[in-house]
Amino acid sequence: MANAMATMKAVRFHTYGGPEVLVYEDAPKPEPAAGEVIVKVYATSVNPIDWKIRAGHMRGFRDYPLPFILGWDVSGVVESVGPGVSLWKPGDQVYGRPDMARTGAYAEYIAVKEDELAPKPKSLDHIHSAAIPLAGLTAWQALFDTAGLTPGQKVLIQAAAGGVGHLAIQFAKLKDLYVAGTASGRNQEYLKQLGCDLPIDYELTRFEDVARDYDAVIESMGGQVRTRSWKVLKKGGILVALIGPPPSEDDAKAYGVRAAIIWGQMKPDQLAEIARLADAGKFRPEIAAVFPLRDAAQAHRMSETEHVRGKIVLQVVSDVS
Ligand SMILES: NC(=O)c1ccc[n+]([C@@H]2O[C@H](COP(=O)([O-])OP(=O)(O)OC[C@H]3O[C@@H](n4cnc5c(N)ncnc54)[C@H](OP(=O)(O)O)[C@@H]3O)[C@@H](O)[C@H]2O)c1
Repeated sequence: MANAMATMKAVRFHTYGGPEVLVYEDAPKPEPAAGEVIVKVYATSVNPIDWKIRAGHMRGFRDYPLPFILGWDVSGVVESVGPGVSLWKPGDQVYGRPDMARTGAYAEYIAVKEDELAPKPKSLDHIHSAAIPLAGLTAWQALFDTAGLTPGQKVLIQAAAGGVGHLAIQFAKLKDLYVAGTASGRNQEYLKQLGCDLPIDYELTRFEDVARDYDAVIESMGGQVRTRSWKVLKKGGILVALIGPPPSEDDAKAYGVRAAIIWGQMKPDQLAEIARLADAGKFRPEIAAVFPLRDAAQAHRMSETEHVRGKIVLQVVSDVS
């Protein structure tokens, strides 16, 4: 029973609140149940949902037992496998998008179902790999699964320099879409470097004045940005919302367009395909900052500015190559 008492370092919160509620401390080390894999976490990343949950904004929608470990990106190495696992063995290099219904990866170890992992990109270190799953799957699914975009079509990506947006631009260009994206003046050159055909400085230009007859808008700001986004779409186009509340069906009808809200899902085949694209040099995640796991509170403060370029990563082990 020695293992039952085993502990690991983790960042947990015992009460909802500001970044200071995140505590680096000992927590029980998970054991693999049937069909589960224990991953030794080399790196994880910060997504806005993490601090929204920590602050209590998602209560009623996502309720977790406290103390709780956040973090739904992982890059690491398989430590052990539970009964019935056929896809992985100890020592495999993996990355993944753990189930948000369960405890996350701000920790030395995480238990995940075997189909929540894919082979990690061989050409990327764990820092860059950990930046991809949640944001990358969301971008991919918004563009291709939900909007169903095909070569030559036009998409406007809101918050295009952010975690989801910077990957969405690169994925969209891989499929020969025409891409417009919004960002502040500071990020205009960056959007161009990513391949964005029409970077729009939201501080100077109203995007609906320069983007018309688009097939899709990937919308992650809500409020006025959402209201104005309808005008960008051509008849039959689609607004794909990444944040609640769901887009108004009445508005969609009035503009003669479609609307959807999505929550990015773990799809192992897609994540494996994304790894192959990374290894082929077709895209690269941007790392805004790397913090040691124990400094998760600082990482949250940075994410909460909502002006991060690319992704913030939490490094869990010292050698992340
Ligand atoms: N539905 C899902 O499954 C799902 C998945 C992932 C994320 N999300 C949600 O989608 C949103 C974006 O996620 P993320 O990870 O990309 O966030 P993020 O990395 O924090 O986004 C930061 C970016 O937002 C840009 N931004 C801020 N204000 C803007 C404005 N008024 N117009 C255009 N861009 C603006 C910033 O660019 P500047 O610095 O240039 O202003 C910055 O690059 C979040 O609300 C997140 O919770 C949903």
